[in-house]
Amino acid sequence: MTAKLARNMRRGGMNLHNKAVRGNLIHAPVCGQIEALLDALILIDEAGVIAEVLPGCPPRLCADYAARGALVTLRPGQYLLPGLVDLHVHAPQFPQLGKALDLPLDRWLMEHTFPLEARYEDVGFAAEIYGRLIDTLLANGTTTALYFATIHLPASLKLAELCLQRGQRALVGRVAMDHPQTCPAFYRDASAALAADETRDFIAQVQALPGNVPRLVWPVITPRFIPACTDELLQLLGALATQTGCHVQTHCSEGDWEHQHVLARTGQSDAAALADFGLLTRRTVLAHGNFVSAADMDLIGAAGAGIAHCPVSNSYLADAVFPLRAALDRGLHVGLGTDIAGGASPSVLENARHAVTVSRMREDGVDATKPAGSRGVPGARIDFREAFWLATAGGGAALDLPIGQFAPGYMFDAMLVDQNAPHSHLGVTADDDAADVLQKIIYLVQRTNIARVWVGGRMVHEI
Ligand code: GUN
Ligand code: FE
Repeated sequence: MTAKLARNMRRGGMNLHNKAVRGNLIHAPVCGQIEALLDALILIDEAGVIAEVLPGCPPRLCADYAARGALVTLRPGQYLLPGLVDLHVHAPQFPQLGKALDLPLDRWLMEHTFPLEARYEDVGFAAEIYGRLIDTLLANGTTTALYFATIHLPASLKLAELCLQRGQRALVGRVAMDHPQTCPAFYRDASAALAADETRDFIAQVQALPGNVPRLVWPVITPRFIPACTDELLQLLGALATQTGCHVQTHCSEGDWEHQHVLARTGQSDAAALADFGLLTRRTVLAHGNFVSAADMDLIGAAGAGIAHCPVSNSYLADAVFPLRAALDRGLHVGLGTDIAGGASPSVLENARHAVTVSRMREDGVDATKPAGSRGVPGARIDFREAFWLATAGGGAALDLPIGQFAPGYMFDAMLVDQNAPHSHLGVTADDDAADVLQKIIYLVQRTNIARVWVGGRMVHEI
C-alpha cells in the first residue's frame, strides 16, 4: 500500500459512500453484450451499494451532489468498469509466480509447490507474502478474489484478516489434504477428522472477524482436489457444506493425470464424485474443468455450481483447452481465474485476453498438416465481450454475490481506467465506438492504466 493511499484511506477522502460518480461507464450484465453509458451518473449509498444508475446526468441532482462536495467527475479518457473477479488464486504460491512452468502438474506440485506451501506454518512469512499479493491484485483491478490458502489455520486466518484490512472482497479457504499416498509427510493434514475440525474452526473464526461487514470476507470449504483427499475427508467436508451453506472450491478434471487418477480411484469423473460427496452446490467453484464431459456439465449445471476458467495456467499444466463455448451455451456459471502460480500472471485482464486467444486456437486447431475442416472444434470461439463478462458479472454470478455490474443493489466494486496514464498503450480515438473502446481496454490496459480501485465504495488502490 502506498503512503498516499494510506493517507487517503485514513481520511476517507476518496471513499464514495453517499457520493455520486459522473462519467463513462462500461459493463456487461449479460454474457455477450456490453452496455456503455456515456456521461452517466451512478449513486452510491452509505453502505457502498449502488443505489441508482442514471443514463444521463439530471442537472438538479448533479448540482445537489456537487454542492455538498459529493460529486466525482471523471476526466476525458477515463472509464469506470466493474472490478475484476478472480475465481482461482493460490495465495501462498505468489513467490512461485513465473517459475517451474516447464514441469507437469504432479512434479510441479511435489518439487516446488508443496515445499513452498509448507513454509506458511510461519505466520510472519505468510503476512509478508499475503500483504504483497493483495496489493498486487488490487493494483491489477481485482476487487474480489477466491483464494486457496494452505493447510495452516493461523496463516489462512492471516490472509482473511489482511484482505479485510486492505478492503479486498475475498473468499478464503484453509486447504484440506490428508491423503498419505499423494501428499508428502511434510505437508498434509494428520487426519481427516483434524482437517474437517480445523475447517469448521476456520469458518467460525472468519465469520467472527471484527469489522467483517456483510459480504466482505467469506470462509470457503477447500478440499485441494480428490487425489489429495481421502474419501473420509471428502465426506466430512461435504457434510460441512450442507450444514454451513459455505462456498466450496476445489480442482476438477484439470489435466490427463488428475482426471485419470480420479477415474481409476472412484470409477467416475471428478464432477460426479464431488456431487456424491455433497460438494457440488450452488456455491461451489470448480477450478479448470478441462476434461468435463457433457454429462458432467449437466451435473454442474443442475447444481448451479461454477467453473473457474484459467486459460493462462491451462496452457502450461492442463494438456487441453477448456470447452468454454459449450459451457456458456449451456448457461453454466463460468468466470476467470489467474490460478497463481499455475498461470504466470496476476492479472484477470491478461486471462480475459488469453481466454479469447485459446478459444480461437481451439476453434481453428493447431496442426497445419491436418485438413482445415477437421483441425479444430467448429464454433469454439468467444469474443472480447464474453471475455469481459467472464471477468466481471460472470465471476460474480458464479460466486452468487451481487458484484460485477453496475445495477441497483450491487456492490460498488469498480476500477477507473485512465488512458492518459504514464506509459499507456491504450489509445482511444474519436473514430472508436463503445465496442472498440472496450475491445481496446481488454487488449491494451496494463497496471499503469488502473488509476483507482474501489470495493464496496471504499478506495483500496490509487496510483
Ligand atoms: N491441483 C492440485 N493442486 C493444484 C495447484 O496448486 N495448482 C494447480 N494448477 N492444480 C492443482
Ligand atoms: Fe489451482
